Amino acid sequence: MGGYGDVQMIDENGLRMDGRKPGDVRPITIETGVVPVADGSCRMVWGTNEAIVAVYGPMEAHPRKIQKQDRAVIDVAYNMAPFSTTDRIRPGFNRRSREISKVTQDALESVVLLELYPRSKIRVSIEIISAEAGTRCVGLTAASVALADAGIPMTDLVVSVASGKVNDVVVCDLNKEEDNYGEADLPMGILPNTGELVFLQMDGDLSPEEFKQAWDYNVEAALQVHKLMVEALKGGAKQ
Ligand code: CDP
Repeated sequence: MGGYGDVQMIDENGLRMDGRKPGDVRPITIETGVVPVADGSCRMVWGTNEAIVAVYGPMEAHPRKIQKQDRAVIDVAYNMAPFSTTDRIRPGFNRRSREISKVTQDALESVVLLELYPRSKIRVSIEIISAEAGTRCVGLTAASVALADAGIPMTDLVVSVASGKVNDVVVCDLNKEEDNYGEADLPMGILPNTGELVFLQMDGDLSPEEFKQAWDYNVEAALQVHKLMVEALKGGAKQ
């Protein structure tokens, strides 16, 4: 979030650099069962982001000290592949990947019926293959599809989208330039059936009206993406 207001990212027709209108979401493709050895998996291409998520479990939690007597724990690992951006990413975990793993885990723990699996662990590995902004959203959304693909009971899927502000205009689903040079970023994790939130972060400044617009864009986008998630899980359209 550079906040360089002088980088022009909205043209005279109100269109963004990638041709989208302010409320448009990038194109999305979702596939399940892409990692045959996993209990559940998902490949999600969102703009030029790509994430692959594999789910293993529920399995007995090891080491024992991580076990919860009355419920399962979810162990999330978010990782950007070294080749996922133009600058090579140093392999291994860092502060950013730990933070994203933690917020993703918290969001997923809000929907998975953990109490059905005492002393168990569900392992969720999120690998970002290509990164173009909003990878935490793509990872979380794909993780909820992979959990459903593994047959793990949940109260709802989680759809995550980041809207924000560029050149004083609120826009939906920020791309890389908008994320880097925009003035604000509002990633949210939404339960499409109830509109409840399980994840929200904010970077930059938004007025109350702008915040409301960004929120509304995220909710509208979540409902669109949810339809694709359900189709993919029904084994239908590999869009
Ligand atoms: O990906 P997300 O927007 O959730 O997280 P971010 O920390 O705001 O990163 C925005 C984008 O910056 C990423 O999607 C990558 O394209 C890029 N990035 C990068 O190139 N190298 C990093 N170490 C971190 C992020």
